[in-house]
Amino acid sequence: MKPKIFLTRKLPPKVMERLNRLFDLEMNTEDRVLTKNEIIEGIKGKDGLLCLLTDAIDGEIMDGSPDLKVISNYAVGYNNIDINAATKRGIPVTNTPGVLTETSADLAFALIMATGRRLIEADKYIRAGEWQGWGPLQFLGVDIYGSTLGIIGFGRIGKAVAKRAQGFTMKVIYWNRTRLSKEEEKQLGVVYRPFEEVVAQSDFLSIHVAYTDDTHHLIGRQEFELMKESAILINTARGAVIDEKSLVKALHTGKIAGAGLDVFENEPKIEPELMKLNSVVLLPHIASATTATRTKMGMMAVDNLLAVLEGKKAPNLVNPEILL
Ligand code: DGY
Repeated sequence: MKPKIFLTRKLPPKVMERLNRLFDLEMNTEDRVLTKNEIIEGIKGKDGLLCLLTDAIDGEIMDGSPDLKVISNYAVGYNNIDINAATKRGIPVTNTPGVLTETSADLAFALIMATGRRLIEADKYIRAGEWQGWGPLQFLGVDIYGSTLGIIGFGRIGKAVAKRAQGFTMKVIYWNRTRLSKEEEKQLGVVYRPFEEVVAQSDFLSIHVAYTDDTHHLIGRQEFELMKESAILINTARGAVIDEKSLVKALHTGKIAGAGLDVFENEPKIEPELMKLNSVVLLPHIASATTATRTKMGMMAVDNLLAVLEGKKAPNLVNPEILL
């Protein structure tokens, strides 16, 4: 008998092939986010749940299947899951760290380039048929090379962004809860600064912290007051790390110059004012969106399911307290 798994949305083909081979799979066949009731219905009688960052998984859902042995999240971030509720019920929760680091860092860098050099505006201008030829004052941006990149949250992705910045001879300053060793700072060519200093000194400020109660609205009104008026804010972490309403105000009042956003506070809803601003680049949460990376994430999510269902410790367990 194969273990019974519920999948909340279709994944890349190679992952689907493996899931179908290994498990008795039931899934959402429509390309949309399921409602809470649909997930509760879906996990009835299932041993495992394979869910996405768009699925809010709480205790009520977990209670939908008394047989539920594992929740495998198809994302590195797991703020969509009530971890305490899972731990209380003895359910291991897993995520997909590492495999999306470089791809996500690529996208953070793409946002730095797109905002700094106004790529989207310029592209729209050509497509609108407005270009009459080269002009000395057209689409003047800011230099990426030689500028100061501030990184808030210096885990795997933050470090991968810092490595890319070296190629652009950027000065990289960072803040993290735990400071790196002197050797690692030297090796990465980065300088530690207190949080407020990173915020105040950056030309580009890129956010790479996990979303938790502590990081909710980490960047808000006070931080926008500190930032340079020429600064550009980049967010590929989680939307609610930034107070989006304060961000809109800061952009409107010229407290900062622009923003490159892959994530939003109330996805898929976007602050309408953000849509109107040319100084903002908006992406639909695609930091990990390459075929290779989304496939790797899926394979890792399957490995996590398998390990737990075979009675082993999951390689990427986020609530190890359940083992105590
Ligand atoms: C994650 O895995 O948390 C990312 O946001 C997916 O792109």
